[in-house]
Amino acid sequence: MTQHCLDVASVFAALIELPGIKRKLDALAGFTLDEVQSQIDVDIGQNKNCCAKFARSLYFGYSRSFKPKSLDDMSNPLFDLETLKAELAGHNPRAILKAAMEYFNNLAVSFSGAEDVVLVDMASKLKPGISVFCLDTGRLHPETYRFIEKVRERYDINLEVLNPAYQELERLVKEKGLFSFHGDGHTECCGIRKVGPLRRRLATLDAWITGQRRDQNPTRLELDEVGLDSAFSTPENVLYKFNPLAKWTSAQVWDYIEAYDVPYNELHGKGFVSIGCEPCTRPVLPNQHERSGRWWWEDAAKKECGLHAGNLHKGK
Ligand code: ADX
Ligand code: SF4
Repeated sequence: MTQHCLDVASVFAALIELPGIKRKLDALAGFTLDEVQSQIDVDIGQNKNCCAKFARSLYFGYSRSFKPKSLDDMSNPLFDLETLKAELAGHNPRAILKAAMEYFNNLAVSFSGAEDVVLVDMASKLKPGISVFCLDTGRLHPETYRFIEKVRERYDINLEVLNPAYQELERLVKEKGLFSFHGDGHTECCGIRKVGPLRRRLATLDAWITGQRRDQNPTRLELDEVGLDSAFSTPENVLYKFNPLAKWTSAQVWDYIEAYDVPYNELHGKGFVSIGCEPCTRPVLPNQHERSGRWWWEDAAKKECGLHAGNLHKGK
C-alpha cells in the first residue's frame, strides 16, 4: 500500500468514528475516491490528526473549501458550531466530553478544587493523561490545596497549577494592600490572580472544558454546552469552550460524587458550597443560594470573576 492510499484509508477510518450514519453517507455521496485523494495534501497527509480533521470537513460539507496551507493552519478544526451546539444540547456530560475530545486534541479541563472534580473523574477515564489546570491565586484555602493534591494522586491526569505574574501582583499589593477587593470590587484582583494566568494558558489551547452549570447564577442561565469563547479567542487563536455540566443541578453532581466515590473538598463538610478564594468565600445557610457565599458584598448579576466574562455579555 502506498503512503497516499494509507492516507485515504485513515480519512475514511476517522470518518467512521464520527456519529450519525446519515451524515456519513451524505458526506461520502458527493465524492469519488479520486476526488478525496486529490484533496489530501501530501505534505500533511501523513499526520493522523490531519486525517481526522479532513474527515470532519467531509462530514460537515466543507471539503471543497478545505485547503490548509500548512500544519499550523490545522490548529482550528473545521466544524459547524451551530450543528454541534444543537447535537450536544441536553446531552449527558460524558457524551459532551467525548465529543469535545473527538473534535479537539489540544484541550484542557479547568478544575477549581470544588465539585467540578466530577469532570476530572469522567475526562480521565475517557482520555488518560488529559491536561487539567488549576489557577492558584495564592489565596485558596488550605483545604483546597490539600484537595488538589488528593486529585493529582487519584487520577491519571497531567495537572498544572498556574500562578499569577509576580510583578503585577506585587504592584497591586504595594498600591492597595492584600484586601483591595473589599474596597473597590474583585475585578482587579481576580484579573491579576486568575484571568492573567488563564489567558496565558488558553492562548496555547484550541478548547477548554469548564464545570459551569446554569443553576449556579443568573449570569449562567443561558449557558450552552459548547460555544466560541468570545472573551479569550484572539485573531491568532480561535478558542472553543465546553460546559458539560451545563444542565446538571448541584444534586446531580453530588449524586455522582457519592455513586463513584469521587474525592471532594473537605470544605463542603463545613457549610461551603461554591468555593473560590478564602477571603472571598464563606459558608452558606441551608436554602441560601450557593453563590451567596461568593463576593457577598457585591451584586449577584456581577458575580463573574472574569474567567467566564462572556456570560456577562449575553445581555441578560
Ligand atoms: S468563578 O468564576 O465564580 O470563580 P466558579 O467557581 O463558579 O467560577 O467555577 C466555574 C468553573 O470555572 C469551574 O467549574 C472551573 O471550570 C472554572 N474555575 C473556577 N475557578 C477556577 C480555578 N481557580 N482554577 C481553574 N478553573 C477554575
Ligand atoms: Fe482576589 Fe478574591 Fe478574586 Fe481571589 S476571588 S482573585 S482573592 S478578588
